[in-house]
Amino acid sequence: MDERVVSTEVQLDEDSIEQSLRPQRLKEYIGQEKVKQELSIYIEAAKKREEALDHVLLYGPPGLGKTTLAMVIANEMNVEIRTTSGPAIEKSGDLVALLNELNPGDILFIDEIHRLPRMVEEILYSAMEDFYIDIIVGQGPSAHPVHFPLPPFTLIGATTRAGLLSAPLRDRFGILAHMEYYTVKELDKIVLRSAEVLDTIINAEGSLEVARRSRGTPRIANRLLKRVRDFAQVKGDGTVTKNAASLALELLRVDKEGLDSVDQKLLMTMIQMYSGGPVGLSTLAANISEDTETIEDMIEPYLLQVGFIQRTPRGRMVTARGYEHMNIPFPTNP
Ligand code: ADE
Repeated sequence: MDERVVSTEVQLDEDSIEQSLRPQRLKEYIGQEKVKQELSIYIEAAKKREEALDHVLLYGPPGLGKTTLAMVIANEMNVEIRTTSGPAIEKSGDLVALLNELNPGDILFIDEIHRLPRMVEEILYSAMEDFYIDIIVGQGPSAHPVHFPLPPFTLIGATTRAGLLSAPLRDRFGILAHMEYYTVKELDKIVLRSAEVLDTIINAEGSLEVARRSRGTPRIANRLLKRVRDFAQVKGDGTVTKNAASLALELLRVDKEGLDSVDQKLLMTMIQMYSGGPVGLSTLAANISEDTETIEDMIEPYLLQVGFIQRTPRGRMVTARGYEHMNIPFPTNP
């Protein structure tokens, strides 16, 4: 067997594990209590009226379960879901093809919806509001508009920040759901549930340790669990204990608060090169070789959440807690 075939199989295997870790129903979905509570009412009402659910915008940092929640909504509504992403839809025709396949009540899920090309986005306006699209068919003198009715459907969009969406698109979502970082207690439950799905023996302290170091993010919790499980299997008796978790996470350079090497690099750069700030976003991005979008969407939201940095009008600053975490004395003015 050639290597590419093997790696495809490995990927498929990882994908099916990923799939099996996802909850299927709202009652299995841990955390995001406020979002779940609201959604369950809207879902029940839409089902009673036998209508499509209103369009839903899920926004929040990556890895918090937006795609999973979209699939849960489809299960709860008893409808089909088609998934795609903003960057995958290059031309208007790509979107039209997707919309054309929908049955009444179905869900179209667009991940990273803020990255839809403008031309494509404009087609969505009438599709979302009045369930039709007008498209130009043909070229040159024979080009003519065609009015194309659509079945009532639900668009679920996911984005890292609602502010990245254009106002006309944002305004067409009836349901806005802000996804928040998970508490350690919620992540602990997720880790225990995932360990069961993965047939892994884990004790209470082992699970808590993985939960504590998962940066408030189920995707990270599940990833760490898999690595810690490998470690426990090779170096121990297969049981995930606190000790196995700590040793594995040290190896992965994930610190006690769950910060990874990129988070640590950002804090260290701010402290060592800019005396803790304030420092501007683009300066910081150039220094740690990440783009500004990655810092804003993926790195800094968690550092802000745990209070290691703060945003000021003059730029980002490391807080006293941030210094303490990095084991560096907080500079006090003489
Ligand atoms: N796996 C990933 N995210 C989850 C969640 N929110 N609830 C249960 N299992 C999950």
